[in-house]
Amino acid sequence: MELSALAIRVARTPGLGMLPQVTSQVLRLVDNQDASPRQIGAIIERDAGLASKLLKTANSAYYGAPGKIKTVSQAISVMGLSAVRSVVVGQAYQQMTAARGASKRFDRLAFWQHSLATATAARVLAKLRGWRDPEEAFLAGLLHDAGRLVMDRFLPNELDQAITLSLERVVPLIETEREVMGYTHVEVGDLLAEQWNLPEGIRLALRRHHDDVDFEECPLGCLVGAANVLAHQTGFTLGAPVVYEMPPTLRQSLGIPDAQYEGLRQAIVQEVTKVQHALKI
Ligand SMILES: [Fe+2]
Ligand SMILES: [Fe+2]
Repeated sequence: MELSALAIRVARTPGLGMLPQVTSQVLRLVDNQDASPRQIGAIIERDAGLASKLLKTANSAYYGAPGKIKTVSQAISVMGLSAVRSVVVGQAYQQMTAARGASKRFDRLAFWQHSLATATAARVLAKLRGWRDPEEAFLAGLLHDAGRLVMDRFLPNELDQAITLSLERVVPLIETEREVMGYTHVEVGDLLAEQWNLPEGIRLALRRHHDDVDFEECPLGCLVGAANVLAHQTGFTLGAPVVYEMPPTLRQSLGIPDAQYEGLRQAIVQEVTKVQHALKI
C-alpha cells in the first residue's frame, strides 16, 4: 500500500486516527504555556476512568505520597503538568496497544514494554543531560514506535513478513520493514503524529529516532534514539535479538562517560519495574 493511501485509511479509522477528545485537549493545553492546572483538572474530571487512573498514579510509591492524594488538582500539583500529560496520553496509548490487531507475529505486550522502557530511559537520560522537560522526553519515548501499531492494523501480512525476515537474518526490524513495504515505522508514525496533532518537538523525535543525530541539533531525537538503544540492550526488545550499539554521534553528543552506561542500564531496568507498577501493568 502506498503511504498516501495508508494516511487516508488511518484518518478514517476511529480509535486509531484520533486520540480521545480528552487526551487531545490535555495535550493542547499542556503545550500552551497559558493553560492553568485548574483548566486541565476540569477536563480530566469529566472522564471518571482517567481521573481515577491519575489518582492511582499520584498515590503510587513513585511520587512518594501513597494514599495522601484525594483530588485531581492535588494530583496535578504533586506530579506536575508534564507528568500528568504522560499519564493521560499513556492511558489512551495503552488502550490502543491492547486492542487486537491483525498481525500474527507482532507481540503487543512486548511492544508496550519496549515503549515504556524507551520512555523511561529517555526520561533518565534527559535528567542526566539537564534537558528542560524530562517528561516531554518520556512521552516522545513512549510514542516513538507508534507507526508499528498502524502496520499491525492495516499491513498485517507485510508486518508478519518483515518480522519473519528480521528473525531469520537477525537484523533490526526497521531494515526488513523497508524491504517489504518500501517505508518504515518512522514514516508511518509521522502520519499518525500528524493526525493526532502531537506537539512539533515530539513529532521531530519520532521522525529522527533512528538517525545518528547530534544533541544540539535535535535534543529529543537524540535522547529518544539513545533510549531506544538502551531499551533493546536491557532486554526490552522487539524483533530479532540483534546487538544494538549506540551510534557514535549520539554517544558523543550525549556526553555520558562510557563507564556510566552499565549503571545506567541497571537503573533503567529498576525504573521500568517501578513505572510498570505505578501504571498497574
Ligand atoms: Fe523505532
Ligand atoms: Fe523502538
